[in-house]
Amino acid sequence: MNISLTILENYPLDSLNTLGLKASARYFVAVTTVTELKDALDFARSKQLNPLPLGGGSNVVFSDHIDTLVIAINLKGRRTIEQKDKQKDDQKNDIIRVQAGAGENWHDFVRWTLEQKAYGLENLSLIPGAVGAAPIQNIGAYGVEIKDSFVALDAVSIDTGELRVFTAQDCAFGYRHSVFKGELCDQYIITSVTFDLNARLTPKLDYGHLNALLNQRLKGQTPTGLEISQAVSDIRQDKLPDPKDLGNAGSFFKNPMISDTQLKVLRQSYPKLVAYKTGTQWKLAAGWLIDKAGLRGFRQGDVGTYEHQALVLVNHGQATGKEVIAFSAMIQQKVMDQFGVLLEREPRIY
Ligand code: FAD
Ligand code: EPU
Repeated sequence: MNISLTILENYPLDSLNTLGLKASARYFVAVTTVTELKDALDFARSKQLNPLPLGGGSNVVFSDHIDTLVIAINLKGRRTIEQKDKQKDDQKNDIIRVQAGAGENWHDFVRWTLEQKAYGLENLSLIPGAVGAAPIQNIGAYGVEIKDSFVALDAVSIDTGELRVFTAQDCAFGYRHSVFKGELCDQYIITSVTFDLNARLTPKLDYGHLNALLNQRLKGQTPTGLEISQAVSDIRQDKLPDPKDLGNAGSFFKNPMISDTQLKVLRQSYPKLVAYKTGTQWKLAAGWLIDKAGLRGFRQGDVGTYEHQALVLVNHGQATGKEVIAFSAMIQQKVMDQFGVLLEREPRIY
């Protein structure tokens, strides 16, 4: 083992999670290269610890002291990749392949792709966090998910330190889900992600609010990628609390899926229930359910639901991770009692 890294002990994580929860890590290290990452994994193995990779900390709840090695993934770099097998047909020439290090900030990466005139990620503007965490839950917003333009990712095995490439199929992406939240949970650390973007912009404006805002701004003209990115950012800033002002982890629960039959039964009692058809199922707006349960803006101590978006749990100041979890369990119970629907938490609890 050749460890030249500075491993810190009892390191505070308070400013490294967007909920602003007080927590500390038994060991902490920031890595900027794959070699450093492998050294950090050697250290974890030598201590028999299962390390915790951390990006922007925008989808984690620290419920306690983190009794392991936290590895801040600071692997940088972004580039366009020349495709050697580029075919002559027009469609293939439209593709711009881009790759980014896991430690790149997601939104900065999206803006950079737009500067390269490479389109496909504009609807995912302003999602907090790092590129390396984006595949973990297949981040999505405004009708787009990363799986739509994802090609592959590189990852290092926590057990062996070996490098492995994962294709989209390997990742088994679903709604706010991937293999890294399922059967390969805690087994790999993502080091870079590759996307195929398009040289021609095809605006995806299925979301009424986004469409309406762009129409109002452009009077029916086709928007540019930057205009879509700006509109998405403005809507998000309007709807969601900025973690700098009010600690939060975005949506705290996934939008639940129900069957046709369940929808018909619920609609008898709640004709205004918000539901979207997805495949053979219906996706319910969890925010609407929590709101209708009378819990929007509800507060217990320093934990609450956001007053403008009930799906977002907020830390009004000194909330602990345990209080956030207890509060979320109370919400799950109330929604279950009233609607018979189970809300599944979205952030990872530690
Ligand atoms: P972290 O919170 O650091 O980590 C999340 C999980 O991924 C942890 O389990 C961590 O161990 C693991 N992980 C992190 N990096 C790696 C890596 N390199 N390799 C392996 N595992 C890793 N999400 C959406 O999908 N859509 C939204 O619209 C959206 N809006 C949000 C709005 C706000 C205000 C906030 C606070 C959050 C929002 N989120 C949204 C959730 C969050 O931004 C995403 O889940 C994001 O991808 C998390 O990135 P992160 O770097 O902060 O991950
Ligand atoms: N609604 C209410 N009351 C509320 C909140 C929402 O009635 O308090 C209603 C809204 O009026 C709307 C519907 O519920 O009719 C859906 O709300 P919204 O458009 O705000 O979207 P969401 O379903 O709550 C999802 C994602 C967000 C993503 C947005 C935009 C999930 C769990 N959440 O939110 O992702 O940014 O759509 O696409 O899928 C995240 O994952 O952290 C996240 C923020």
